[in-house]
Amino acid sequence: MSRAAVLCGLGAWVPPTVVDNDQLARDLDTSDEWIRTRTGIARRRVAGPGLSTSDLAVEAGRRALESARRTAADDDASRSQVDLVVLATSTPDQPCPATAPQVAHRLGLGTVAAFDVAAVCTGFIYALATAASMIVAGCARSALVIGADTFSTILDPADRTTRAIFGDGAGAVVLRAGEDTEPGALLAFDLHSDGAGHELITVPGGGARERALRTDDEADWNRYFTMQGRAVFTEAVVHMSDSVRAVLDRIGWHSTRLDRLVAHQANLRILRAVGGQLDLEDKQVVTNLDEVGNTVAASIPLALADAAAEGNLRPGHRVALTGFGGGVTWGSAALTWPSLDVRPGTPATDGAPLIHRTDDKENLS
Ligand code: UT7
Repeated sequence: MSRAAVLCGLGAWVPPTVVDNDQLARDLDTSDEWIRTRTGIARRRVAGPGLSTSDLAVEAGRRALESARRTAADDDASRSQVDLVVLATSTPDQPCPATAPQVAHRLGLGTVAAFDVAAVCTGFIYALATAASMIVAGCARSALVIGADTFSTILDPADRTTRAIFGDGAGAVVLRAGEDTEPGALLAFDLHSDGAGHELITVPGGGARERALRTDDEADWNRYFTMQGRAVFTEAVVHMSDSVRAVLDRIGWHSTRLDRLVAHQANLRILRAVGGQLDLEDKQVVTNLDEVGNTVAASIPLALADAAAEGNLRPGHRVALTGFGGGVTWGSAALTWPSLDVRPGTPATDGAPLIHRTDDKENLS
């Protein structure tokens, strides 16, 4: 038995504004049929004016802390008191400073350690590994790990490929110190990068290399997100499959012993291909991208929250998490699913509108 970080709370939040494929097809040369067939996505959520990454992160963080409080059998209030906040994001509120301290402050967490991690779509796995390692090393007793992104703010309005895929959202987990024999213990990680591929997924302008010029002419610098989709597709399948095998090897699990794979929700064809590489049936590969698209660092915790709330992730399930993203970066984690009280991160979009859309910010609870 050894010290481990244990998952004890989970929550997620997506902004209320829904943009479906037909809406995109009104101003872009695309169609509902192309997007559904090539990506599996039907609609996505978009942060309206006035909503930024920190707003989404606060909502998801609050729900994860409430989940930890509800889950604790002994009503142990300390389960919702964390001393570390790690925020995975590639769309921080500003380039400087990090967004995590503001999120911690708005959640009323006091002067806890708080910082951002930037690994694009692998960000949540990197943040989880960082927080878990700090808990195991004794630097923290409990942590709030959030993945939040608002890619709608950096997409080129004229780029049909990226606008079809990406959506905004946030998901979060609470980790506490425990033992590796407990359900929820994070048993192993596998993390990698290959900077040779840094131009496959990039926002060229606005950093130290291609500086944002202080001029009103936006043509002076390239602030939009770009992706070489086909190359990324191939690398994502290879690296996520290999990484899941590596993390399972480390704990002596074969992929046939896996109950659920929760992979970064980039494209349904990628998820199916990775599942196939690992000899998993489609029903073992968790998906929610039809409703939310690719939510970057939020995608894994958002998929976890939706699957747990639907009962598709059950206590005792052997679960692998895996992601691939810009950098390029990739990584995986493994755990046995614990008993958690979780509400869905993605409210249903059918029936009456959930929330009036006049001002998204007014709808934050
Ligand atoms: O999240 C981080 C990692 N990101 C990913 O994992 C994304 C990985 N990549 C993908 O998911 C896919 O490559 C895409 C969904 C981005 C693109 O799908 P694809 O099947 O690889 O298409 P493609 O890029 O090879 O393009 C095929 C055709 C092209 O037209 P031509 O050159 O054959 O005439 C594209 O211009 O499809 C066209 N196309 C579209 N057509 C209608 C690209 N996007 C669209 C669109 N609607 N939205």
